[in-house]
Amino acid sequence: MKERTVIEKIKSLKKEKDFLILAHNYQRLEIQEAADMVGDSFELCKTAHSSQQSNIAICGVSFMAETAAVLNPEKNIFSPEKNAHCTMAEMLKEEDVLQIKEKHPSAAVMCYINSTLELKSVSDVVCTSSNAVKLAKRLGKKEIIFVPDKNLGNYVAGILKDFDIITASAFCYVHHEIYPEDIKKTRNDCPQALVLCHPECQEQVTSICDFVGSTSAMLNYVSESSEREFIVCTEEGHLDRLRTLHPDKKFIAPLFPRLCYGMKKNTLESLIETLENPGNPLSIPAQLAEKARRPILRMMELSA
Ligand code: 13P
Ligand code: SF4
Repeated sequence: MKERTVIEKIKSLKKEKDFLILAHNYQRLEIQEAADMVGDSFELCKTAHSSQQSNIAICGVSFMAETAAVLNPEKNIFSPEKNAHCTMAEMLKEEDVLQIKEKHPSAAVMCYINSTLELKSVSDVVCTSSNAVKLAKRLGKKEIIFVPDKNLGNYVAGILKDFDIITASAFCYVHHEIYPEDIKKTRNDCPQALVLCHPECQEQVTSICDFVGSTSAMLNYVSESSEREFIVCTEEGHLDRLRTLHPDKKFIAPLFPRLCYGMKKNTLESLIETLENPGNPLSIPAQLAEKARRPILRMMELSA
């Protein structure tokens, strides 16, 4: 079947079967086109929570579908691709957090949404890259253990200088492996371009960029900017999204374009298969869901 025909078929199936399709900003363009909404992790979370449909397909990585399933036990959540995982989410185990907690018994634990439900369940609040700083300020504790992403933790610490932010050891290979030298070389070819990066990049990168923010925050920044050229330091799917929304502007990848293999596992074929034969929705063990729901709900409350 031609790509256009598949997209049209997905659009008619989703109405027929009462499905909402949510896609992360890194998804392939054809999936973005078939989706009802495309956004960053927090926007996906909010949209899943407020949606009317009883069935939701989440095109992203597993922590996104798991978070939606925990937050919306009355809805059926589906992942088109069961093996689409975020490698960072798997890097830190709950025992690691419990060990850090032993050394800092009065600290609050803030857990980036890119994590397992087990990690969330031993945390006080979940956050995303778009609300981490805001939530840290609203948490009521200045000593915060930030897990699992050390780079996002360092970014929050760099802004909240009077806080004591204790970071863990995990990182995202997509962002961690963007280096200042790559940006400097890219800048040589387009010296007028502004440099945007995701806070999952290392401090040596965030500190030389013009703007640091979540995928959707970058999008808003570009929409509001009168500048026309941007070096975008994040996964390359986001550059496709920016190019689609702003065909009049130029988006340049850093020297070595970055790819998230987990995100790219979703295809139109896996999406149409989910709509045609949904099978069983994602099922989370009740005890784990109950423990992980508390810090996720806290994020929703504190970010309101
Ligand atoms: P955003 O919430 O900024 O979209 O980030 C998700 C992610 O996985 C970045 O690598
Ligand atoms: Fe995880 Fe990095 Fe992929 Fe985002 S880009 S889903 S943090 S591996």
